[in-house]
Amino acid sequence: MKLNYYSHSAFQITTNSGVKILIDPFLDGNPTSPVKAADVEADYIILTHAHGDHLGDGFSIADRCGSLFICVNELAEYCKSKGYKAHNMHIGGGYNFEFGRVKFTIAHHGSMTPDNTYAGEPAGVILSIDGKNIYHTGDTGLFYDMKLIGEMTPIDYMLLPIGDNFTMGITDAVKAAQLVSPKVVIPMHYNTFPVIEADPNVFKEKVEREGIKCEVMKYGEEIDL
Ligand code: NI
Ligand code: MN
Repeated sequence: MKLNYYSHSAFQITTNSGVKILIDPFLDGNPTSPVKAADVEADYIILTHAHGDHLGDGFSIADRCGSLFICVNELAEYCKSKGYKAHNMHIGGGYNFEFGRVKFTIAHHGSMTPDNTYAGEPAGVILSIDGKNIYHTGDTGLFYDMKLIGEMTPIDYMLLPIGDNFTMGITDAVKAAQLVSPKVVIPMHYNTFPVIEADPNVFKEKVEREGIKCEVMKYGEEIDL
């Protein structure tokens, strides 16, 4: 399985069998994205919530690729109202797709579409694919239930915001990583805009001091999981 980082909270997973899954594909309007929406492929698009920097270019990508959206019920209904295919899920629920299991978790944040439609609760998502568990927290503040999330599903890779202002910042993110105790933590949601400037190497230094390995992915970098 491969993981590509497109900056902000946008990641692409390519499974061992070649299924392509995009998470929060904010690309064309994202000043730090190394790719354009027209250059990516997606069989599935997972949305943690409906904010413009997460829904992003989902619709234009789905127009071209016929992607299936996977998200919480209210956002899935919004996608369907725009003519797209969606699999409705909700927080606490998991489902076994052809590529692996998807389970949604809580996230402390908001969710509204760019055209101001209510989109349900924001979420995090745990993907169990090719023998690995990947936890993309979505946009969230620190919450103690992360400890329970890590206990119920041993996490291999945790994708965690560090940019502050809209989400947790570095200090809280270090605590979040300690609560979940993943094998590797990957920082996200920073340096896209001036208001979320943060130094991922400061996060790396602090979290590794607590015994958790951190991989700072470059924009456009691909790693093998
Ligand atoms: Ni958001
Ligand atoms: Mn965001």
